[in-house]
Amino acid sequence: MKKGSKIFNVLGLMLMSTLIVSCNENISNNKNDEIKIGITLYRQDDTFISSISSNLEEISKENGDNFNKNIVLEFVDAKASTINQGNQVDKFIKQDYDVICVNLVDRTAAATIIDKAKSANIPVIFFNREPVEEDMNRWDKIYYVGAQAEQSARLQADIVAEEWLSNKNYYDKNKDGKIQYVMIEGEPGHQDTLIRTEYCIKALNEMGFQLEKLADDTANWQSDQANSKMNQWIKEFGDDIEVVFSNNDVMALGAIYAINSNSNIIRKPIVVGVDGIKEAIESIKIRDMTGTVISDANAQAQAIWDIAINLANGISLEDVIGSEREKYKKIPHTKVTIDNINELSNE
Ligand code: BGC
Ligand code: CA
Repeated sequence: MKKGSKIFNVLGLMLMSTLIVSCNENISNNKNDEIKIGITLYRQDDTFISSISSNLEEISKENGDNFNKNIVLEFVDAKASTINQGNQVDKFIKQDYDVICVNLVDRTAAATIIDKAKSANIPVIFFNREPVEEDMNRWDKIYYVGAQAEQSARLQADIVAEEWLSNKNYYDKNKDGKIQYVMIEGEPGHQDTLIRTEYCIKALNEMGFQLEKLADDTANWQSDQANSKMNQWIKEFGDDIEVVFSNNDVMALGAIYAINSNSNIIRKPIVVGVDGIKEAIESIKIRDMTGTVISDANAQAQAIWDIAINLANGISLEDVIGSEREKYKKIPHTKVTIDNINELSNE
């Protein structure tokens, strides 16, 4: 029976690909009436990435009619596999897409994608996971849209500094004048992991704070991994943790869950994240999370859209990225704490 269903699947696939091919023939006949933008995501289930994609879809719905062309946005999920992502890019190239947007699975492996796109003369917009500079220089029709990682780290440091100084007696649990902290990192090698981890501590040092690291580990941008790390650290350090730095919000929320469900914690530490997702805003409102730094998914989606549409229509990119020769668009951040949360949520 298994064999039978396999044969059926193969037949089904053949039929489907014939349909796709014939559709494509139609599409390429009407190429001038259509703009096709292919978007491959490193993982569709990543909260922040799914927020960029839903913003892009929204922008496309609102602006699609401004052009006399049908605009097709095709999202595909690479499911954390470089091989899947390579195949998805190949397919976009074969189907003659106008622009390809890539949220890299492995940010050090952009060269193959760039070289293939270059030989097909299809521009590529990388986003959120930044290729190394050497790869960005392989061709002039490649762009990067992301956030200003150093600024997010510095704003995290500001939040910690303000909160610490507002109630030093409470937060400096061992009264040694230093900040005992743990650091929950995103995926190793991701530019936001490296830069956020380094600069939040650097910024606090520059402000004159002394810090002592109790522990530091990756939770790969994931809440459940952060939760188990935090549980482990609470077992190890008990109530000695004074600040929890997290490279993103979902991991900060995982840590807060561990803090709230652990009776070893008598005074809650300061907890800071990055992204500004809905759940983090709710957590700040009930004073669980101290603060976060908004990484503007809507502005990033808008930049991807503007660059893609201009490229597809042969319009200059100067308005979007400053100068024709510029390749980077990095969106600034805003910090959120209980002090400004109402202003921001009313926006
Ligand atoms: C975000 C994370 C996200 C990651 C994905 C980062 O900029 O802060 O929440 O998981 O990008 O690449
Ligand atoms: Ca201390």
